[in-house]
Amino acid sequence: MKTGAIILGAGKGTRMNSDLPKVLHCIMNKPLIEYVRENVEPLIDTKPVVVIGHEGEKVQDYFKKSVSYAWQKQQLGTGDAVKWGLKEIKDEETVFVLCGDTPLLQKETLEKMKEEHLAENRSATVLTAILEDSTGYGRICKDETGAFSLIVEEKDATLEERKIKEVNSGTYLFEKGALEKALLDLDTDNAQGEFYLTDVLEIMKSEDKNVGVYTLDDETEIKGINNRVQLAEAAKMLRDHINCIWMEKGVTLEDPNTAYIGSQVILDKDVIIGTNVHLEGKTSIGKNTIVGNNSTIENCIVGESADICESILLDSKIGDGCLIGPFAYIRPGSHLGNCVKVGDFVELKKTKVGNGSKIPHHSYIGDSKVGEKVNIGAGTITCNYDGEFKYETIIENGAFVGSNTNLVAPIVIGEAAYVGAGSTITKDVPSRSLSIARSRQKNIEDWNKK
Ligand code: UD1
Ligand code: MG
Repeated sequence: MKTGAIILGAGKGTRMNSDLPKVLHCIMNKPLIEYVRENVEPLIDTKPVVVIGHEGEKVQDYFKKSVSYAWQKQQLGTGDAVKWGLKEIKDEETVFVLCGDTPLLQKETLEKMKEEHLAENRSATVLTAILEDSTGYGRICKDETGAFSLIVEEKDATLEERKIKEVNSGTYLFEKGALEKALLDLDTDNAQGEFYLTDVLEIMKSEDKNVGVYTLDDETEIKGINNRVQLAEAAKMLRDHINCIWMEKGVTLEDPNTAYIGSQVILDKDVIIGTNVHLEGKTSIGKNTIVGNNSTIENCIVGESADICESILLDSKIGDGCLIGPFAYIRPGSHLGNCVKVGDFVELKKTKVGNGSKIPHHSYIGDSKVGEKVNIGAGTITCNYDGEFKYETIIENGAFVGSNTNLVAPIVIGEAAYVGAGSTITKDVPSRSLSIARSRQKNIEDWNKK
């Protein structure tokens, strides 16, 4: 039996006070709705259907072809939104309905909920939680036997009903046929004048269908984001959750409150993370590596026992035992071998550096291939761009480039060649030779007597 999913994201999110649709607001660079999609995707057999409306093109720009779309032109309520979503569900017989603004919901929860829904052969299962303060949520009403009877929205609830602590998370599993049928009977006879999805459960009950609840142990998971305060709170909860996992696996976080570790990041044992560190995208960091304070690493593979100090590393590969920074900027497409030193105020772009080479201070090396055991003096610049095209610099094994040198690309500095400090090199330097390209020093004696 196939399972599909409808993710609701057509609402404006008025309380965000933003031009961006609510579901595209980010936690650690990832939109809220992406968390929802990632968590439900392993449990379904086809692309999820995202219901879009307000600024829907922006959601399409983000997901491209990775999901299906259903347009809800007018936001007439969650029941109406699901009606549009269902039109895109083809042969799936079981359908998840989720809100795009609940990034804390865990995959394992959805998994257990689905197991129970199928095992109990239900027409609907609603995910609930018990909250100390249930303000704002739909309340779960039960009959005298403790069985589910209906959901009442806060705005429609009596004072007595408002005291109920069990709330609707806005996440459901439905048997598609039963959902389709119940949606036909919805009306807008309620405080908000909307088609409430929640009413389908009462309709199903009145037809003696099997409707049940799955109640969460950890109520934080259901937190929906409605404003930027909740966004910040949810971000903190997600970070704390991820950080705890890594600490348990043997990673030291000097200050878990300022360690920002993305959900796809992989850390090895005895990695040490300083304060205010951002690790993003598909980054992995090897054993015993230290990522010092104020560093950002995005989509990088970093080896073992490296030391990264106050630096920014993007889309690059860093070998074992490398020493990076302070204040290095390693831009996309760079690839450092083992035991490479890239020191203070060094910028690398799309550059390969062989084992044991050193670029210790104040350099820009771009579009280059640097061999092994090369030493590049302070202030060396590759002049790789003529305003129209980019050119390559090749510095072969064992070469020594003196300080404050300009290497005008395309150019090759041969194996074990020397370049004198202060040179502007425009022609290839043969292996093992010394090249000096600067004007000779002239000393004029007794000059100050004149
Ligand atoms: C809904 C539930 C409430 C539950 C709460 C959980 C209903 C009637 N109420 O209330 O019981 O406790 O979620 O957070 O369902 N959306 C659309 N189109 C619309 C309206 C909404 O796509 O016409 C989307 C929104 O973008 C959002 C989701 O549906 O992702 C929920 O809508 P929202 O207005 O936040 O519902 P709540 O009032 O919070
Ligand atoms: Mg809401």
